[in-house]
Amino acid sequence: MEDVMDKLVNLCKRRGFVYPSSEIYGGFAGFFDYGPVGVALRKTIKDSWWKRTVEDRLDVVGIDTSIIAHPQTWVASGHVSSFSDPMVDCMACKQRFRADHLPAGVSVCPSCGGTLTEPRQFNLMFETHVGAMQDSASVAYLRPETCQSIFTEFKNVQASSRLMPPFGIAQIGKSFRNEITPRNFIFRSREFEQMEIEFFVRPDPDDMTRWYEAWQVERLQWFYDLGIRKEKLRVRPHAPDELAHYAKGCVDIEYELPTGWSELEGIANRSTYDLTQHMTVSGKDLRLFDAEKNERYTPAVIECSAGVDRTFLVVLADAYHEEEVKGETRVVLKLAPQIAPIKVALLPLSKQLLEPSMALLAALKRQFVCDFDESGSIGKRYRRQDEVGTPFCVTYDFESAADGKVTVRDRDTMQQDRVSMDALNTYLADRLSGKR
Ligand code: GAP
Repeated sequence: MEDVMDKLVNLCKRRGFVYPSSEIYGGFAGFFDYGPVGVALRKTIKDSWWKRTVEDRLDVVGIDTSIIAHPQTWVASGHVSSFSDPMVDCMACKQRFRADHLPAGVSVCPSCGGTLTEPRQFNLMFETHVGAMQDSASVAYLRPETCQSIFTEFKNVQASSRLMPPFGIAQIGKSFRNEITPRNFIFRSREFEQMEIEFFVRPDPDDMTRWYEAWQVERLQWFYDLGIRKEKLRVRPHAPDELAHYAKGCVDIEYELPTGWSELEGIANRSTYDLTQHMTVSGKDLRLFDAEKNERYTPAVIECSAGVDRTFLVVLADAYHEEEVKGETRVVLKLAPQIAPIKVALLPLSKQLLEPSMALLAALKRQFVCDFDESGSIGKRYRRQDEVGTPFCVTYDFESAADGKVTVRDRDTMQQDRVSMDALNTYLADRLSGKR
């Protein structure tokens, strides 16, 4: 089954979803570039998350903070002291391995049999220097998660939005981790994007449990609404020894990739850990005032932390289909129409029909994201559109000028309908929204 992942990686490159970064220099492990249809799909995923978690709600507001924050942020969060993996180096071939990923009892290099060093902690944060000096005082970090600046901005956002718990602050942005073993394509990379909500509640156990459970339901539904098959998704509670240092409870939303069940999103009850830490390290009071009880309190937080890139990979893996058509293999991405990067492709049957089909293209483009493809046989053009998941192909042929109709081909059934150009936009809008 791993083979499907290889096929997906090839398709992503061939059709412009994802390229390996810096390929002309031999690639750069753990980094990727998104191509024309890839960037469209990413944007759709992020827009859908933002609309649902920020715009459609009255109790969540959004922010967009800097990637490099004050280094004390990462002291308070615990990342400077404990965001690390135990590593061993081979003294002969110089390869580096995660000590906890080597089989128990292995004390020599799995690659060349050389002697391994004792395990050493290796911090996963990327370091940089801010300002002209390159000394220890100028060290800063690329953020390894987006949520910490939600905590450091907590008081500002709360004051300007005038929201009181329960309320959330959401952010979408890049994060960076110097992963030792980037793997599974974009699943574990060194630069990735997160979509995080920190939902602040009173530190009352009932409130915390209620919101922890409510967010699990809500977040799972979002993945369903992207069209991902329900039977491939599950919510897995963490065992006590798996819990991060800050978490009182945590579940992962997982998807069954060809390589096994894999984490898409973590939902954690972080209690009052983060705000307390930032108060201790900054010396600033981040508590809120409860007018009824006439006392100050530190809100607790329920966090939902999802990955854009992992969602992207899962959407593609879930949509990937191969089927036999007239003795040939057809590869098709059965993406839900609402997330397909291209909704409609207009394919004039011959170069002689370019000009008359242009007016139709202009009308279609007013309403839908379109592709226009006039090169190659019609079969090849259908295949290209199938591979990027375009729900409908419209063929303008030699009859079209005379009868005012075009042929609409459905990606999934490959059925063809003859549709009047006057009614084409309505027809497509209905089909795309599932009305017909
Ligand atoms: N603020 C909590 C936090 O960052 P996490 O479980 O380390 O928790 C949350 O990360 C999500 O971020 C993951 O579920 C995953 O979707 C994404 N993510 C984390 N590391 C990643 C990596 N190296 N490559 C791609 N996505 C990653």
